[in-house]
Amino acid sequence: MATKNILHMLTPLRHMSPFDVNMALDGGFDSVTPYTGVTLDDIAPLVQDAMFSRSPRDAVHTGVFIGGKDAVLALDMLEQLRRALLKPFEISAFADPAGSFTTAAAMVACVERILKQKNAKALGQTKILVFGATGPVGYTSGVIAAMEGADVTLAGRELSRVNAKADEIKQRFGLDVHAVQAKTPEEISAALAGKEVALCATAAGVQLLSATTLAAAKSLLVVADVNAVPPPGVEGLDPMANGVELAGGVLGIGSLAIGNVKYKTESELFQRMATSTRAISLDFRDAFARAREIA
Ligand SMILES: NC(=O)c1ccc[n+]([C@@H]2O[C@H](COP(=O)([O-])OP(=O)(O)OC[C@H]3O[C@@H](n4cnc5c(N)ncnc54)[C@H](OP(=O)(O)O)[C@@H]3O)[C@@H](O)[C@H]2O)c1
Repeated sequence: MATKNILHMLTPLRHMSPFDVNMALDGGFDSVTPYTGVTLDDIAPLVQDAMFSRSPRDAVHTGVFIGGKDAVLALDMLEQLRRALLKPFEISAFADPAGSFTTAAAMVACVERILKQKNAKALGQTKILVFGATGPVGYTSGVIAAMEGADVTLAGRELSRVNAKADEIKQRFGLDVHAVQAKTPEEISAALAGKEVALCATAAGVQLLSATTLAAAKSLLVVADVNAVPPPGVEGLDPMANGVELAGGVLGIGSLAIGNVKYKTESELFQRMATSTRAISLDFRDAFARAREIA
């Protein structure tokens, strides 16, 4: 009998995301089981329970997915999971809370492509402003861009909360990122001054950048938006736009263009986990490596 690919899907929330359930089954898993309300302390016992039930040869066909809505907690859970694994019963893991790791990876990869194609500029040489940086997509986008050497500024409506994210990034990854409050139109314009890229990762349905604000941002080369719930995060930005010129000559990348790369990235990471002959652990770094190739 062929060994079944079994996925245990863990979330600290009340529900596992139906989006991720569908993606996992379409990606090659035969069975997926959601576990809700999972805490950090639950990780080791759950993982070891899953791992010891199969022979070492079959353990690799067992996977754990970590969802939720908190990028930092998901990274802690992934680390806890790695510590709980015992040779030779190792199993694979993939974290993508609220789709943030694959969405952030896709957004940064799309921006990198447009910068290179149309501005002959490397991602690592740019000044990047991330709106909605206290959310999981914004936080992860900031980390990926900073890891690539970009000069990153996190923006949010309350300075103390954005500062806390910048401190967390310094502590966890050793990366220096700036933080700025950008709540009022004046603060948003001031935050944009001197920036070459704006990543819009504010909550669904929020239009943050008006066409006037965009036109006034003289240094801006590229703006990307992941909000797929109307109105778009950037006024006048078509969700399908992929390097289309907007007010002031800024090149825009819309949510569905990014979503297309995100979808393929997540799907391929599930496929990789389902077909791997050794235990693997996937996070936003793997997502970005793949999204770069796809974009
Ligand atoms: N295209 C795709 O494939 C895809 C996939 C997943 C997610 N998404 C989208 O990506 C975006 C980010 O997702 P997320 O889960 O990280 O978002 P989120 O946690 O819901 O929100 C991100 C941040 O937006 C800010 N915010 C909330 N309401 C706001 C308002 N009225 N005005 C200005 N800022 C506001 C908050 O930061 P402060 O309170 O610090 O300001 C919040 O931390 C969402 O639009 C989501 O729908 C797209």
